Amino acid sequence: ESKIIEELKASIRNIPDFPKPGIQFKDITTLLQNPVYLQTLINLLVKKYQNLGITKVCCIESRGFFIGSIVAYKLNAGIVPIRKPGKLPAETISKSFTLEYGEDSLEIHTDALTKDDVVLMHDDLLATGGTAEAAQNLALDFRIAELYMNFIIELDFLKGRDKLNKNYDIHTLIHF
Ligand code: PRP
Ligand code: MG
Repeated sequence: ESKIIEELKASIRNIPDFPKPGIQFKDITTLLQNPVYLQTLINLLVKKYQNLGITKVCCIESRGFFIGSIVAYKLNAGIVPIRKPGKLPAETISKSFTLEYGEDSLEIHTDALTKDDVVLMHDDLLATGGTAEAAQNLALDFRIAELYMNFIIELDFLKGRDKLNKNYDIHTLIHF
């Protein structure tokens, strides 16, 4: 399995100085556009999360939508979008988080989860952890039965993991 993960890692394109000078952007489009890599990625995630009784996959806008949705389908679970402010039409709850400069927030519909849900939270990338922390807190507001956190990529040096609630499983496939 580690050789497969190395191959997936090598398929991720590094873009220096995007979107700002000094940032090494991890571009997953080069993984997603390759049918073999896409299937390999999905199979690894399905293998890890099957048989856990997952009922909903929360997908974080927007890069979390691609893989989160496919995994939800494969797990026979529902899809719940966690979106940027003002995008969800019905009643929402919202959590703000700090960025390098300023603030942002994420929202979820108030009827999206119940206390019986076993939730898989998915995003493409764990960087500073602000996004994932807000998303985790949104899901936990529903007093759900269980929560698993999943990322394709984690930038270890940013220590985003330290912001997350350690009572819940956190898994990343590819570390930089
Ligand atoms: C990126 C990435 C994660 C988040 C991680 O999303 O897709 O969602 O940043 O950063 P953090 O751990 O420092 O919070 P972005 O907000 O750029 O939006 P996008 O997914 O819509 O491209
Ligand atoms: Mg994102």
